[in-house]
Amino acid sequence: MTTQLRNIGELVTNDPEWGGRYGIITDAAVEYDEGVITWVGTEMQARVRRADQVVDVEGRAVIPAFVDSHTHLIFAGDRSAEFESRMKGTAYAAGGINSTVLATREASDEELRELVEARVEEMHNQGTGTVEIKTGYGLTVDHEARLARIAREFAEDVTFLGGHVVPPEFADDSDAYVDLVCGAMLDAVAPFAKWIDVFAEEGAFTVAQSRRILEAGMMAGLRPRIHAAQLGPSDSVRMAVSMGATSIDHGTFLSDSDIDLLANSDAVVTLLPGAEFSTKQPYPDARRLIDAGVQIAIATNCNPGSSYTTSMAFCIALAVREMGLTTAEALWAATAGGAKALDRDDVGTIRVGAQAKLVELNAPSHVHLAYRPGVNLVRRMTF
Ligand code: NIG
Repeated sequence: MTTQLRNIGELVTNDPEWGGRYGIITDAAVEYDEGVITWVGTEMQARVRRADQVVDVEGRAVIPAFVDSHTHLIFAGDRSAEFESRMKGTAYAAGGINSTVLATREASDEELRELVEARVEEMHNQGTGTVEIKTGYGLTVDHEARLARIAREFAEDVTFLGGHVVPPEFADDSDAYVDLVCGAMLDAVAPFAKWIDVFAEEGAFTVAQSRRILEAGMMAGLRPRIHAAQLGPSDSVRMAVSMGATSIDHGTFLSDSDIDLLANSDAVVTLLPGAEFSTKQPYPDARRLIDAGVQIAIATNCNPGSSYTTSMAFCIALAVREMGLTTAEALWAATAGGAKALDRDDVGTIRVGAQAKLVELNAPSHVHLAYRPGVNLVRRMTF
């Protein structure tokens, strides 16, 4: 059944065919059939087309659904006390991850499934149409495998993050834990995962250990991405780019030479401003990245420690207010940029052949996403 959305005041397509990078069409219409976009054009052109169903959007804005390319959605437990203490000045440290590991190991499969389902629904209701989910709160062979298996029920893009932190039982021998991640744990998780990731940071894994984990994952057919330069400058950025990582995530402390390297690579830098908000760290200078020619994405990083938000619109507002982006740049990063960070061409853009994941905003333009922070402007979704 073909459906036409008509009388769209502003359609953000992210398709340069319509002019500029963002392909914004005013007085637009779009048509879809069985979940796939079949036509995009102006309201005038739409008037002579036939469709089984016509929906009048009454001048509101329509955007591509958000692509949330970095989340840690599968966990149990609560770390609000840690957040409270950070707001009073305590620094964020990688070690807090282990408290979520304990709570997650105690949860049953059914409890975890319900928790993920609720979080995915919360995201959907705020306009997110595609979500990546990482493991990383199990850290044993069996727990990581079950997290990946459950995550796969909700997401096409599942990332193996056994290299999230060294669990307490390996506190005295992190290399032995890396052996496990690269061996039995990888074997158990790989059938459910598309990506291999590692937290290369002080308090987590060294650059050499991170390289081993990425190499092992790639040998098992997974594609590399990395948590890098979140808490301080790191050689892990150069290492990951040299290994062909699709996305460098966080990038809060990138050096000039990192930026040069990234600008001349295919890697996307996935910025996670919810983490800077919740850890009181400085925000990365996204303006500098864009001006240097680096491709960026924005994602929520939804997790119980450093960024417990499911709202892409909140992250857009932070990127505009704190990171020097225009609203159009931030929206692109949260849609087409997220798709690039997952190497997907079927989402994040409104063009013929792409998935019909469209969001009607309760607003006349995309600028309201940053102009009205904290307000869920999603009026209707087509997915
Ligand atoms: O991306 N940096 C590593 N992982 C998460 C934090 C996870 C946690 O604190 O539980 C992040 O910020």
